[in-house]
Amino acid sequence: MWKLLLVWAICGFVQAVASPDPTLADFLAAANQQLAAIYDQSVLAQLQSELRGPNDVVALLELEIADEKLLNYVKTLTRRAAKFKRLQLGDASQKRQLARMPQLGYEALNAMELSQVYAMASSMGDSYRNVKLCAYKQPGNCTLRLIPEVQAIVQQSRDLDEIEYYWFEWRQRTGLATRGPFVAFMELYKKTAQVNGYPRAEDYWFRSLEKSGTQSLALLDRLMAGLRPLFLQFHAHVRGSLRKMHGERLVPRGKPYPQHLAEVFIGNAFRRVRAEWYVDLPSPETGLANITQDLHRRGLSTTQRVFWNVAEYFRGLGLPLLESDLWTNAQSVAADDDDRCWHKVWRYYTLPRTNLTYCPLNDEERFFNMFEAQSDLYYYRAASGQPTLLRDEPFPNFSDAIGKCFSLAASSPRYLQKLGLLQEGKWLELPARLNRLYVQGLRVVFLLPVFYVLDRYRVEVLSGHIRADDNEAYWRLTEHYTGAAAPRKRTNEQFDVPAKMLMEVDDQYFSNILSIVLQFQLLKHYCTKTQQFEKDNPRKALDLCDLSDQRQIGASLQRAISLGSSVPYSGVLQEMAGEPEVNIDGLLTYFKPLHDWLVQQNQLKGLDVGWAYDGWS
Ligand SMILES: *[C@@H]1O[C@H](CO)[C@@H](O)[C@H](O)[C@H]1NC(C)=O
Ligand SMILES: *[C@@H]1O[C@H](CO)[C@@H](O)[C@H](O)[C@H]1NC(C)=O
Ligand SMILES: *[C@@H]1O[C@H](CO)[C@@H](O)[C@H](O)[C@H]1NC(C)=O
Ligand SMILES: *[C@@H]1O[C@H](CO)[C@@H](O)[C@H](O)[C@H]1NC(C)=O
Ligand SMILES: *[C@@H]1O[C@H](CO)[C@@H](O)[C@H](O)[C@H]1NC(C)=O
Repeated sequence: MWKLLLVWAICGFVQAVASPDPTLADFLAAANQQLAAIYDQSVLAQLQSELRGPNDVVALLELEIADEKLLNYVKTLTRRAAKFKRLQLGDASQKRQLARMPQLGYEALNAMELSQVYAMASSMGDSYRNVKLCAYKQPGNCTLRLIPEVQAIVQQSRDLDEIEYYWFEWRQRTGLATRGPFVAFMELYKKTAQVNGYPRAEDYWFRSLEKSGTQSLALLDRLMAGLRPLFLQFHAHVRGSLRKMHGERLVPRGKPYPQHLAEVFIGNAFRRVRAEWYVDLPSPETGLANITQDLHRRGLSTTQRVFWNVAEYFRGLGLPLLESDLWTNAQSVAADDDDRCWHKVWRYYTLPRTNLTYCPLNDEERFFNMFEAQSDLYYYRAASGQPTLLRDEPFPNFSDAIGKCFSLAASSPRYLQKLGLLQEGKWLELPARLNRLYVQGLRVVFLLPVFYVLDRYRVEVLSGHIRADDNEAYWRLTEHYTGAAAPRKRTNEQFDVPAKMLMEVDDQYFSNILSIVLQFQLLKHYCTKTQQFEKDNPRKALDLCDLSDQRQIGASLQRAISLGSSVPYSGVLQEMAGEPEVNIDGLLTYFKPLHDWLVQQNQLKGLDVGWAYDGWS
């Protein structure tokens, strides 16, 4: 009786608090409407820039105006929203919308600090973009940029001294020049956190996860710990290959491998090179599948045909078929640079339309990219039922994970065989599967720790555990997590932290980590649900899983993505994958055959696994 009363009292209390507030309702309706209009201006400007090229002045100007409008508007919103928050008005949805209001960020700093932030960010950016290195042994030839010139030289070079020269020169020229601005920037970042209402800067860093800094780091640490056994085996294998190439002196046993040599090696996986390039591919004679020619042979010879093939795929998952207008109105972008030529879907907030721009190239990459683009489209449409404030993804890169999950499933040899793009049965056999997992693994397994260190270092600085220019701490993290060491000992006389941050000093990588991990988690979930994956059944391995024509997927996917960010991401994940947290189990399951092979090979060849900490500090 007593218990019952208490429950009743709590419910009554919650209900009394949680009724919608009419003044707040008006405020939110106006905000949703106004923000939507400004976002659309910005999207239209970005679309113009995509079509006319990044130097189109009109598009750039329009983008700038939209940004300034947004800023002006967010300033007025922030003041009023703070009042509603203080009074704790409104029901759950209203409170959620208040919580998802755009924040001022750096703009909340005072005018002098703000101009410092911009000046430092741009000077650091410039020191990367504008730095020119002198060519190896040609002190008078100093016109080389990192990308593309130095990158191309290093990738082709067989001269270790040359590779090492560029590694040091790049750090020499960019590192020390950015140390001062980097240190000052981190201080202002802490200040920014404070003025945005986050006393602890690490909480601000992870704000998009709606978790504290401690919780977020614990999540990332769990993922890294889960990855570790696979990483160590793969690392040992690659170190063995490097030792074979460069000898025991440069690649000693039981130590981290030299970063400059490992980068060139692992970088090959990102350049989509031919099978012959890989040292110690599991089965060199089997090679790597390449569907580019068969796309043409099998009638998928135009982007239009690829578009409809992929549209059929998603319809087969039980999603609504795309309307033909979408294709008729689609516009092609220029294909002068295939690294930047992709299919894209453009989402509007008030305009009743969606646009598609496509890359006219017709190769393997663009084929799989179409799965990602159309997945985005379903995402945008499903979430469009939410008010503007709740329409975004629950964390950045969340929808990338969904798109990548379907393009991964589409790259399964079983599906490609169904389309007639892979004809020989060998592509379904273990040797070919191991080759595919090996190349995918080089891209995924070695990247996650690099991303982790980039964020971890800055978070440790923000939480005051290390000084912003503690280069030795940076190398301790790098050695421990990535198993790579500098070619020669680095000290606090140098500064190497920003050398890997080619973009911006406050770019965050944790959402990339979560997105990559989530992609495999979703794949495992959908493949299990449709019985295309069965544990310990080699014919139903996860890397073979083909989801095409699994009609039951659509409805549940649709339900999850229509949530937008109306609930925190754990709620969306619960709906989508039946569990509330990102976990690495799917990734490990996917790479299980490769992991087993690596363990066996490392034993067979007597390769050392792991490394002793060599006590630099
Ligand atoms: C933003 O506000 C400033 C100051 O009130 C004003 O001068 C400027 O024109 C506004 N910008 C836009 C694009 O509305
Ligand atoms: C400068 O060095 C680069 C890289 O070695 C080379 O490709 C280029 O031809 C050189 N330029 C001159 C003017 O020597
Ligand atoms: C795949 O095949 C196409 C067309 O034959 C070719 O241009 C491309 O270089 C090949 N890619 C790889 C990674 O072998
Ligand atoms: C966008 O879509 C609309 C109709 O849906 C169409 O009229 C317009 O031409 C498209 N614009 C671009 C740039 O694709
Ligand atoms: C996450 O988003 C950024 C910015 O759009 C993009 O550059 C990056 O490739 C995305 N990462 C993943 C894993 O999709």
